[in-house]
Amino acid sequence: MINYSEKIPNNVELGSDRVLQRALEHWQPAYMKWWYDMGPSESHAFEVYLRTAISVDTEGWAQFGYVRMPEYRWGIFLQPRDQNRLVNFGIRKGEPAWQEVPGEFRSMLRRLIVTQGDTEPASVEQQRMLGLSCPSLYDLRNLFQVNVEEGRHLWAMVYLLHRYFGRDGREEAEALLERHSGDADNPRILGAFNEPTPDWLAFYMFTFFTDRDGKFQLSSLAESGFDPLARTCRFMLTEEAHHMFVGETGVSRIIQRTCEVMKQHKVEDPSDVRQLGVIDLQTIQRYLNFHYSVTLDLYGADSSSNAATYFASGLKGRYQETKINDDHVLQEAVYPVEEIQGDKIVARMAPALNAINARLRDDYIKEIENGMARWNRVIEEAGLPFRFALPHVGFHRAIGNFGGCFVTPGGEIVSQDGWERNRYQWLPSPEDYTYVQSLMSGRVTETGRFANWIAPPIKGINGQPLNFEYVRFS
Ligand SMILES: [Fe+2]
Ligand SMILES: [Fe+2]
Repeated sequence: MINYSEKIPNNVELGSDRVLQRALEHWQPAYMKWWYDMGPSESHAFEVYLRTAISVDTEGWAQFGYVRMPEYRWGIFLQPRDQNRLVNFGIRKGEPAWQEVPGEFRSMLRRLIVTQGDTEPASVEQQRMLGLSCPSLYDLRNLFQVNVEEGRHLWAMVYLLHRYFGRDGREEAEALLERHSGDADNPRILGAFNEPTPDWLAFYMFTFFTDRDGKFQLSSLAESGFDPLARTCRFMLTEEAHHMFVGETGVSRIIQRTCEVMKQHKVEDPSDVRQLGVIDLQTIQRYLNFHYSVTLDLYGADSSSNAATYFASGLKGRYQETKINDDHVLQEAVYPVEEIQGDKIVARMAPALNAINARLRDDYIKEIENGMARWNRVIEEAGLPFRFALPHVGFHRAIGNFGGCFVTPGGEIVSQDGWERNRYQWLPSPEDYTYVQSLMSGRVTETGRFANWIAPPIKGINGQPLNFEYVRFS
């Protein structure tokens, strides 16, 4: 028998909810098997300095201490309920927020929760080999923190499925452990979550670009009229911030180290830079192009009747919905969407309801631009002329108005041949991956030491020094 408040910290009265207990008791062993099989490789005996959420208040949401990851206490937390909360958008705007699933929206809501839930274990699977080549104990600990929290995000979605969707929900919860990233027969639902994350540059790019997509998806679900979903996502967002921090600072530290070495040795040519054992800025730009473009596909079609229905039904809002100054119904509103007409890319005014995905993606891009500007500042401060640039939104896209089109990073439409000829100027080549992999042949385990290709961070985790033993291998 499980002691619920001890083993599964929660604020959903799990201790007195027998139906939910039975569902979780059945699912939890399958989850543990998944963690052992698909979670971080060869890590089960490590003691890791992790934060655990044991409650939602300021003291409880981030408790630090050494934990073996299989013993991590994956909890279930919802932001506390606001009794006065309303449905804030769509045609049912103004009703009290729903505490149970409205029957007519049941299958749509289940779909939204399953799609979100599927991404959480997917990223753990994508990252499972990285612990074998970490550049420091600090970075290894951050990887594991991200992994256990994505595991908790899966728990968060499984809680909703178990608590609100009965038998279908239990079946969906099991299927979340059966699909696997990159599996030819039973892949994860969304494309970017089937791409490999083969090295640490890819990991930092992923947490910068793709975890940020997670932030924007969670933010729009946090507006949902279905209150338990909204409150679940709000709490998940507090954890997501750290994942994006790991990504942005990780890339930034790689750039900083490259710039230091370039200046010290007075070299700029990428092959000279590689001779010195750091990652040339051009390769970083190609990784950026790849992760940005596959992540843009996660927003779905620019013009989407599903997205319109989710919005009109009050299930999934816009980013910071309640802060937007309009009627929140959007029957008459328009929004500019880019598309190809003939041989030109033009902006067309589309019904705002259908352009909900495009709008969320545009909000995301604004944050990406800010982060990239901070990366460029690192190069500028080093006095080097190189600058990163975001490729055009139509570059290398599989979904939406530019899906299957051949658009250059500069936004020019070219022939397929013309595009393919330049593919490896724009996207990482097999040689690029081989080179980056060659830098990551083993793990750096000495306290306070960092691999040659990355600068140390400015400070440690939770006020600890950089030479703290963030992971014990005993
Ligand atoms: Fe997540
Ligand atoms: Fe995340």
